[in-house]
Amino acid sequence: MAIRGYVFDAYGTLFDVHSVVEAGRAFTADPLALSVLWRQKQLEYTWLRSLMGRYEDFWAVTEAALRYSVKRLGLPASDADLARLMDAYNRLACFPEVPEALVRLAGRPRAILSNGAPQMLAAAVTSSGLGDALEHVISVDRVKVYKPAPAVYALGPTTLGLPAGDLLFVSSNAWDVAGAKAFGYRVAWCNRLGAPEEELGLRADAVVTRLTELP
Ligand code: LAC
Repeated sequence: MAIRGYVFDAYGTLFDVHSVVEAGRAFTADPLALSVLWRQKQLEYTWLRSLMGRYEDFWAVTEAALRYSVKRLGLPASDADLARLMDAYNRLACFPEVPEALVRLAGRPRAILSNGAPQMLAAAVTSSGLGDALEHVISVDRVKVYKPAPAVYALGPTTLGLPAGDLLFVSSNAWDVAGAKAFGYRVAWCNRLGAPEEELGLRADAVVTRLTELP
């Protein structure tokens, strides 16, 4: 059965967060270690807040995760350093193949469905120049809970007016792949780094290494 629309994860799938790592060079010789811990904490806080029923938007969660990570690693970062790192989230580039991939998928609705707060997503869509290639930008902020809650994945079918089984959900995050599959989407995993699948008993329908392989 044909795919009738596309729903993309944002961070790490369309947007390259590498520039955020670069912004850390000012105060650490190992910006990658900071970046890895920061991302892990950021996701952990989304899951913890969802389970506690204490939603705060992704900007607040990301900032809190950064403060924790800097303390945990004992880094001498000033408030200005932290602000610069956070600001990098508003000036993200997309992965090089993304504009071409989205153009080749035109003709069917193309959407972002992301944990990102609405203003973060708007900034990244603008800075990466993807505005004309997306019909919808959907934030979890509408339901005040994070992925992989089913209420989040339900925003795709509701917004596009199509059943999940007719939509292709695309993510580079293996746990997000599992969440979307559990909800009922058809799912493509963009496995850029050759990661193992999650052991959650849910498999992607297709695996690609670049989004231009999707068509
Ligand atoms: C997002 C995170 C999971 O964009 O990358 O939703």
